Amino acid sequence: DMDKKVNQLMSQMTLEEKLGQLNLPGAGDITTGQASNSDIAGKIKAGSVGGLFNIKTAEKIRDVQRIAIEESRLKIPLIFGMDVIHGYKTVFPIPLALSCTWNMDAIETVARISAVEASADGICWTFSPMVDISRDPRWGRVAEGGGEDPYLGAQIARAMVKGYQGDDLSASTTIMACVKHFALYGAAEAGRDYNTTDMSHIRMYNEYFLPYHAAIEAGVGSVMTSFNEVDGIPASASKWLMTDVLRDQWGFDGFVVTDYTAINEMIDHGLGDLKTVSALSLKAGVDMDMVGEGFLTTLASSLDDHSVTINEIDAACRRILEAKYKLGLFDDPYRYCDLSRPAKDIFTPEHRKLAREIATESFVLLKNDNQLLPLQKGGTIALIGPLADNRLNMPGTWSVAADFDQSVSVLDGIRNVAGDQVNIVYAKGANVLPDSIAESRVAIFGKPTYWDTRSNEAMIREAVAAAQKSDVVVAALGEAAEMSGECSSRSDINLPENQQALLKALLKTGKPVVLVLFTGRPLALSWENENVPAILNVWFGGTEAGNAIADVLFGDVNPSGKLSATFPQNLGQVPIYYNHKNTGRPLPEGAWFQKFRSNYLDVSNDPLYPFGFGLSYTSFNYGELKLSSAELKGDQKLLVSIPVTNTGKVDGKEVVQLYIRDLVGTVTRPVKELKAFQKISLKAGETQTVEFEITPEDLKFYNSELNYDWETGEFDVMVGGNSRDVQTSRINWEK
Ligand code: IFM
Repeated sequence: DMDKKVNQLMSQMTLEEKLGQLNLPGAGDITTGQASNSDIAGKIKAGSVGGLFNIKTAEKIRDVQRIAIEESRLKIPLIFGMDVIHGYKTVFPIPLALSCTWNMDAIETVARISAVEASADGICWTFSPMVDISRDPRWGRVAEGGGEDPYLGAQIARAMVKGYQGDDLSASTTIMACVKHFALYGAAEAGRDYNTTDMSHIRMYNEYFLPYHAAIEAGVGSVMTSFNEVDGIPASASKWLMTDVLRDQWGFDGFVVTDYTAINEMIDHGLGDLKTVSALSLKAGVDMDMVGEGFLTTLASSLDDHSVTINEIDAACRRILEAKYKLGLFDDPYRYCDLSRPAKDIFTPEHRKLAREIATESFVLLKNDNQLLPLQKGGTIALIGPLADNRLNMPGTWSVAADFDQSVSVLDGIRNVAGDQVNIVYAKGANVLPDSIAESRVAIFGKPTYWDTRSNEAMIREAVAAAQKSDVVVAALGEAAEMSGECSSRSDINLPENQQALLKALLKTGKPVVLVLFTGRPLALSWENENVPAILNVWFGGTEAGNAIADVLFGDVNPSGKLSATFPQNLGQVPIYYNHKNTGRPLPEGAWFQKFRSNYLDVSNDPLYPFGFGLSYTSFNYGELKLSSAELKGDQKLLVSIPVTNTGKVDGKEVVQLYIRDLVGTVTRPVKELKAFQKISLKAGETQTVEFEITPEDLKFYNSELNYDWETGEFDVMVGGNSRDVQTSRINWEK
């Protein structure tokens, strides 16, 4: 049926109409004005628009769709896309935080609810999941991804695609996903956004490609190109990426859209003029041009001079029409514009309840000396810091539909959860950034409304006075939301110096201090780890952040998040990641420096907090690791089991992680790789034996010919509660 419909339409289409389908402009003045009077309306009538992005509300989208359906010659419906990244109006934690839940059901739920809310508001396509592996916390967009690990990243990619697209893409509550940014966007040199990437193919296939591939296997409908170059060719012109890998090797049958003006940017990359780069992009296998209109304005002339073929244009047009068919838009172009839905499906109490629960699960307890946390619901709490009474900063980057006034601040949350039992004294204590740095950002963003014009000293004095009146200090410090995300790279990943000064002054009062840390990236926290008794990393928790933070601070919920990205001791260690190679000169076990070994003079090779790390209010004891056999052959299965006991006084959740090291290979292999994990709930005192089944499939990797297979030999199987503290058992597995 789909082929029939698409063939029938294409047989009627002019070249201009075909090129129109490849065009994805921004909504421009429609976002604020009347659809029918907008600049874009004329183009829609002429059949020069395939879809629009960043326009919302069912009402507005219905109006625009009506122009396409009633006033364009072939009445082809438009597709409406949006950056629905971690929730829609109900905002969930940023993706980096979500990845720290290690809870794939929760992540699928986030995508599901995002789809329900977005589709109720007219949107049928989201530019998510973003699955770029990154090992560089300088890069601001680590906030938007699932961390450093390919295996965890691949599980997340699958869960999100499933959540958005469901089993039936044409249902009115599911939307099409778009995996991005293909490829290697997270490997930008020095963590500077949009910068060059360069890496070996073996590393791409073994370490960076897995999550993209997993999304394709999960049936993702579309792929977005990345801005960076790969092997010297910008991704949007890379035939190797967009056709050989994506379609020929992985069997992708959806459509490829560029990132925003990525075709035009190839002029600055140095590949030629707009006509040249547009032709290169089409020939590479790109189908839709976001915003730049290179396809729309140059491909006809490229067809004339034979630098592209009509088959190439037809193939791209066909894929866009197929996507519209799969979304059910030919059956009902207003499928996602049911005006009765927004009121009942968006920002519901049920969605907010789930957002609160999932946020609690994303927080990572980094330190908790003498069980300072959880706090008593009693006495006086000094709540200090620029992120304490600050609703604007709770949702985090890419919260396109958030109602910031309705998000819950830490102050709101503490009042909601313990307001009638605790006495709260609040002081701001510091701005998010020192004035010197703030100035450069003010030029870009305008002065944030939460800016305080008092001097640092005056603010600190007020905060210290508040602390002195209290039993405990809760310091809500860290990054503002706009300090991570797109084009928010940092060359310094410490707490801003004015906030450090505040923290030092608070510690000096001698009161116990809990650092509630907001951040969109791993930070360098060596000083804080040394000096602050309790650190709860809350990332950016979404609409319900403040309630969720209070739930955890007072122990109504026991934290269970585990890091999906390594926290370095200092920036000089970056890139630092758990699944590194051994080198020919590794340090002996336990040593932190030896001459002529691979190390630094001034810092050990250890991270501050390793991948997979996170504390709980209870303690877990791992019993003896048991393997079904130490000698395996061929397609046998290895059964791994380990008893885990909750040895503390409260119920809790633990992420049991299994890593494998392939000791000898034809190519060098990482010192460990995550291959499985289970998140379990244990009542106080309860023991559960966790079992994993490992098959040769789990041992496979790409060798130097890029063949995907496993090799006979010895393997270490490691199980533990983080990537550092593991029990190890060795096996031999013969082909
Ligand atoms: O989807 C985004 C992408 O991640 C970065 N550039 C802009 C796109 C559309 O908003």
